[in-house]
Amino acid sequence: MNKHDPLSPAAALHANVSVPFERAYAMPKSVYTSAEFLAQEQKHVFAHDWLCAGRAESLATPGDYLTMEIAGEPVVVLRDRDGQLRAMSNVCRHRMSTLLQGRGNVRAITCPYHAWTYNLDGSLRGAPAMTLNESFCKEALGLPAIRCEIWQGWIMVTLNPDAPPPSEALAEVTRLIAPFDMTNYQEKFRETFRWATNWKVLAENFMESYHLPMCHAGTIGGASRLEEMVCPTGGETFNYHWILKNDTVPLALAHPSNTVLEGDDRRKTWLLAIYPSLLITLTPGYFWYLSLTPDGPGHVNVLFGGGMSEDWLADPAADAHLAAVRALLDDVNVEDKGCTEKVYRGLLSDMAQPGPLSHLERPNFEFAQYLASRIPA
Ligand code: FES
Ligand SMILES: [Fe+2]
Repeated sequence: MNKHDPLSPAAALHANVSVPFERAYAMPKSVYTSAEFLAQEQKHVFAHDWLCAGRAESLATPGDYLTMEIAGEPVVVLRDRDGQLRAMSNVCRHRMSTLLQGRGNVRAITCPYHAWTYNLDGSLRGAPAMTLNESFCKEALGLPAIRCEIWQGWIMVTLNPDAPPPSEALAEVTRLIAPFDMTNYQEKFRETFRWATNWKVLAENFMESYHLPMCHAGTIGGASRLEEMVCPTGGETFNYHWILKNDTVPLALAHPSNTVLEGDDRRKTWLLAIYPSLLITLTPGYFWYLSLTPDGPGHVNVLFGGGMSEDWLADPAADAHLAAVRALLDDVNVEDKGCTEKVYRGLLSDMAQPGPLSHLERPNFEFAQYLASRIPA
């Protein structure tokens, strides 16, 4: 709450979505800048819904692991001895040190503090000098499991034992993009970065392509036409829009050997926002994604990755095409960083007020409705 806004951020958000889309405004400033609202998001959004840990093929061999945080909870995702992906608490059952850091490959998880060692299924394998404590029971000291499922090649995790599985929750998305078969795409690059903006500013930046001509004037802006952007109504768990692309980027078009995609689908770029924080750009030849983790109201940690479809990967010029797309995306990211950090700076202004939304920002309004549906007023 601030002196100009008598409503709590959640109440202001509910008021914001209580109008038809034809009269919609950008979300109130406080939902971006308030620590109180972020705490509500952590509880009702990030600890409640499915989050993405990246692509399943990025943890290819037993022992490959990555670490992440879900609503402040340290989590490790790994491929176990049997080839299954698992997620579990990344906190030791002794005096509660965190265990693994970053990404890598391990044969077992050894705590960096007193060397308690866990198997890849989370069970405690051994603990030095513990036999004289009569309450020590190895079998009772495994790492708590966290739900982990693969959806269309994506590793999805949630702290919520009652969340419907992604195959159910995202069935409509699966159906929409079925001809693209996202499971055959392979991740070829990945990095993480931290930007000085609220996670929702970056999510919303992805949800509209209205900013392409201006924000991306140095890269893809010139080839982006507002008339070629279509923003249909999304669903309860996602929003989306699509753009029809010309041949500026060959990889954005179906490979000549692709006989599944027909008509406009051969040059269609999907922009899928899987609530709350997985943002996927899917084209016939390549994909890229962002998975967002808030770091205070004013910063966001970003997992950014991408790769190619099977048919383009088999092309003799695959490497050159991929390098070109990668270089382009790096430049596009610099532009998006600039725009989203400028927005966050503006949101901190006393004189700032949310303005009306374009018809090209329907997904943004749906995102606001989703947040309001999760967070009580
Ligand atoms: S805290 Fe992990 S072994 Fe002591
Ligand atoms: Fe952008």
